[in-house]
Amino acid sequence: MTSLKELVSKRLRSRVTYSPLDVYVDEVFRHKGIINLATGSPSTSLMPLKELSDAVREVVDSCSNEAFTYPPPLGIKELRHELKTFAKELGVNVEGYDLIIGAGALHIIDLIGKVLLDENDCVIVEEPTYIEAIMPLKFYTNYIDTLPLDEGSNYSKLNLKNIDRVCSNAKVFYTIPTSQNPTGVTYDEHTRNDIIRHMKDRNIVMVEDDTYRSIFRTNYEPIINKCVKYGIRCIYLSSLSKILTPSLRLAYALIPKELTEFFAEASFLNLPLSTLAMYVVLIMIKKGVLFKRISHLSKIFESRLKALKDSLTEYLSDRALWNDDAYGMYLLIRIPGVDTEKLFWRSLKEGVGFVPGHVFFLKREVRDTLRLSIAFEDEERIVEGVKRISKALKDLT
Ligand SMILES: Cc1ncc(COP(=O)(O)O)c(C=O)c1O
Repeated sequence: MTSLKELVSKRLRSRVTYSPLDVYVDEVFRHKGIINLATGSPSTSLMPLKELSDAVREVVDSCSNEAFTYPPPLGIKELRHELKTFAKELGVNVEGYDLIIGAGALHIIDLIGKVLLDENDCVIVEEPTYIEAIMPLKFYTNYIDTLPLDEGSNYSKLNLKNIDRVCSNAKVFYTIPTSQNPTGVTYDEHTRNDIIRHMKDRNIVMVEDDTYRSIFRTNYEPIINKCVKYGIRCIYLSSLSKILTPSLRLAYALIPKELTEFFAEASFLNLPLSTLAMYVVLIMIKKGVLFKRISHLSKIFESRLKALKDSLTEYLSDRALWNDDAYGMYLLIRIPGVDTEKLFWRSLKEGVGFVPGHVFFLKREVRDTLRLSIAFEDEERIVEGVKRISKALKDLT
């Protein structure tokens, strides 16, 4: 008899692995009391726990049948409407699009794979990129191509030299143009216009992941606004994980109306939304919690980012390079000549954890970068963390 393991589908075995990013994040969490510059999950001190608890109580006390039944596949109508208004207030062009709710951004990306991708369809992504977003897409196609962020610019400039070759037969371009994960880069107007110029008149769907815009405000318009202007197909994606809590699993996307029925069919396959979570979020939005959180979090992260950059200047400027204009929850640091995987293990001994940068690269073998996150620790611990990384670096080299 064949072993049970051999009965696992070839598709799963060949295309799916446990998240390479989470391997390191989990390792850091295993060390109690460690300074955690690895995770992108905000600490509970940043979550609106009181408002959450009030909203849960309100839904439960209401005993409403609607809140305790199965979810509609694309989310409850009232919340879809509220989120559309929320997106509009962030400057997103919502006209002509349907808003759908997903059980987290990764669920929406999985739906995009289900709806748009056949076996040999090509997907383009930036490199480095948020690798966990690519994993659901890899389940549907083997064919992922990359547009590099240049090492010479400390990964702050998207290299569009090969875009015509790469895009010639691509169906989907997944991009994080604002406060990118893992680099923190926000594309300037010139880069945004260049992307648009190359996307025009192609059978390609842009997928703009704009998860960080609400917290890290920018004057650059979302790409979707330009897509509307130039007739480019676009799906706009955002998540409430960083504003409320990742545990609610709540994200949303604006999709072209012609695709709505297909997304509904795809989401019906496993119906992963939580009706209860949606009603809880609806109450919080109606009470104005979302906007209050955003301005609160913007100030906190601004101050943490300053602490991170200042401490890098103080403790690591003789060895490390980074993009000082980065404005987001993460910063990608390059330490030429240093294997950051080794530095990771050495740093754990000093009581600090980060993510070695190689996990964010799909094609290039890059061993000398690391991602620092400001999601979890306050200013004092961020500074102490950087100091400890510099000590680990001295011990290692
Ligand atoms: C760019 C980006 N998109 C999406 C997500 C995850 O969103 P969700 O928690 O809704 O799956 C993250 C999380 O770090 C992210 O960095």
